[in-house]
Amino acid sequence: MKQDFNGLRVTSFESRRCEEMKKLISYHGGVPRVAPSMREVPDLKTPYVTRFADDLFSGSVDLLILMTGVGTRILSDMVTAESGGKEYVEALRATTILARGPKPVAALRKLGLRPDITVSEPNTWRDILSTFDQRDMSLENLIVYVQEYGVSNEEFLASLEKRGADVRRIPIYRWALPEDLGPLQDAVRSISEGAEDCLLFTSSRQVSNLFEVAGTHERNTEFMEGMKKALVCSIGPTTTETLRENGISVDYEPDSPKMGNLVREVARRSAALLVKKRTAFQNGVDTRNWSRTQMVWSEDGARTRRSETTSAGAFMKACRLEKADHTPIWLMRQAGRFLREYREVRSRVSFKELCKTPDMASEITLMTVDRLGVDAAIIFSDILLILEPLGLSLEYSSVDGPVIGKPLRTRRRIEALRDFDPESMDFVYQALSTTRRALDPEVSLLGFTGAPFTVASYAIEGSGSKNYINTKKLMYGDPSLWERLMDILTSSISDYLCAQIDAGADAVQIFDSWVGCLSPADYEKFVFPHVKKLISTLPSDVPVILFGTGTGSLLELMGKTGAGVIGLDWRVDILDGWRKAGSSLAVQGNLDPVSVLSTPSHVVGEARKILDRVGERPGHIFNLGHGVLPQTPVDNVLRLIDEVHEYSAQAGE
Ligand code: CP3
Repeated sequence: MKQDFNGLRVTSFESRRCEEMKKLISYHGGVPRVAPSMREVPDLKTPYVTRFADDLFSGSVDLLILMTGVGTRILSDMVTAESGGKEYVEALRATTILARGPKPVAALRKLGLRPDITVSEPNTWRDILSTFDQRDMSLENLIVYVQEYGVSNEEFLASLEKRGADVRRIPIYRWALPEDLGPLQDAVRSISEGAEDCLLFTSSRQVSNLFEVAGTHERNTEFMEGMKKALVCSIGPTTTETLRENGISVDYEPDSPKMGNLVREVARRSAALLVKKRTAFQNGVDTRNWSRTQMVWSEDGARTRRSETTSAGAFMKACRLEKADHTPIWLMRQAGRFLREYREVRSRVSFKELCKTPDMASEITLMTVDRLGVDAAIIFSDILLILEPLGLSLEYSSVDGPVIGKPLRTRRRIEALRDFDPESMDFVYQALSTTRRALDPEVSLLGFTGAPFTVASYAIEGSGSKNYINTKKLMYGDPSLWERLMDILTSSISDYLCAQIDAGADAVQIFDSWVGCLSPADYEKFVFPHVKKLISTLPSDVPVILFGTGTGSLLELMGKTGAGVIGLDWRVDILDGWRKAGSSLAVQGNLDPVSVLSTPSHVVGEARKILDRVGERPGHIFNLGHGVLPQTPVDNVLRLIDEVHEYSAQAGE
């Protein structure tokens, strides 16, 4: 299974390595176009400069117009390099010099010269023309040289000619533009017509040069619109910054700035990236379209979901134990601190604000999928946010993790919990509906929640815990109060999950991360009935993943909760775990997150062991046994995802 450009038009602005680029793009299934945007070896002795020097030294230059300071300096260096400094300055002294603004005046001063004519502010080319008018200066039959900077200003040159001048250009480029601007101008035209699918920038100068050429194009507004429609991919941070400075947001940047990485990674994600770009954000997303009236109750009391199903990829197939062309993979905590892009966003916005701003939460969810190429997106949120509408205070500290203001340990406080209003979590449903519309239909969207036990453990302990002493104290010491708390949480979580499904979640995961601290007997008595009840209230056609860690001895019971997929951690052998959970169910897991910290080859080996163990059996969703750790190298994660896709696809051939 090779995901590639699939016939998309891919334009590269590479110059020196343009042939290699063409081959790379074709190899990955794209239709290549190269628009070399730079002159790799600046030709200092351009014919323009030589001609100017000849005319200057023979005394035939009547007027020299200096447009910029940098250009004045470069011109001086170029002519001096050819003919020895003194002579140049002397020759200039004998010529009439017009300096457009203060910068060429300063550059001249360094040469010991003063301009004969200066121009009033704002020093535009029109002001140059008015200066001639004010001085009643005729240009008839004068040889006028114009030192240019960047692309020629044709209108200015034409006006000089109209006044009778014999106009000669001395083009000097900020970033040596190619001699032949044709391909770059063609690219500008085709971007303006909205005909480009994907643009690859491999240096920041390519960006400056493209914008320089586009700046003189008569359809500049259309060019900007076209840039916003195409997929814009950048080799690295400097190029990205230059694009942003020019008002263009970047859709993809590989972690290691290599041409091969850029093409390969963009090729793999291009379809999804384009869908995202061209549908959701352009059609103006209505983020408030979720409505619970779409849910209907069936006769057996279970809700069924609205009929249209939006995701049809390998993930959904595995949930339903159907054969897929590859083993699907996603990673718990895939949107998190191990991603540079996430850290960048987090440096500006607090975690809670991110979660509660639907556009940002959606953007992070989508960005992660684009970056990783996984088969499922999990909405960016947190299991503990539901505690706030129940009346508890919640903060996330960078040192201590989540902290709950006053832990919930008494009957009085439990009875005082507020009724859960599903609309209080509106931001999650909005993020889901935006994300679902923007996602590639092959990629599934997961909603999620904490399970009643795990949410209760945070509420009671006040933070993460090692031994769950307060939780167990309450559970053993006052079973009826425990029941009461479980009932409140179960019904709240049920409403919450139903609304998530209605907003566009294709499947949901229930995180019972810490339930492994219980014995099987306690699990059966204090937890199992609530999880079972919770799942029974969910639409029967939406896959439910039940996940926990340290659950080796609980898997038989977890398999009886009604969940269709059981999450396994790395402490169990995947087939043993699957047998315990139930062979008629699907499983998710179970690579040790710590093994992804090692080397790519170790990661590949460990992934293959799991895939070999499962073999052809349908119903396996690859994942880690718990969340990705923040210190995980991104390259290892990408290697893992590629390997799971490629190795499982080959096995199935
Ligand atoms: O990418 C995803 O998986 C989606 C988002 C997601 C987060 N938390 C974001 C998050 C999901 C699914 C969770 C679930 C979650 N949250 C669990 C269950 C999974 C597990 O890890 O067992 C639990 C126990 C929590 C509670 C929680 N939230 C803790 C303990 C912490 C602090 C520790 C840590 O890992 O950072 C959080 C904060 C949190 N939740 C972050 C993220 C990205 C880090 C916030 C930051 O940027 O500082």
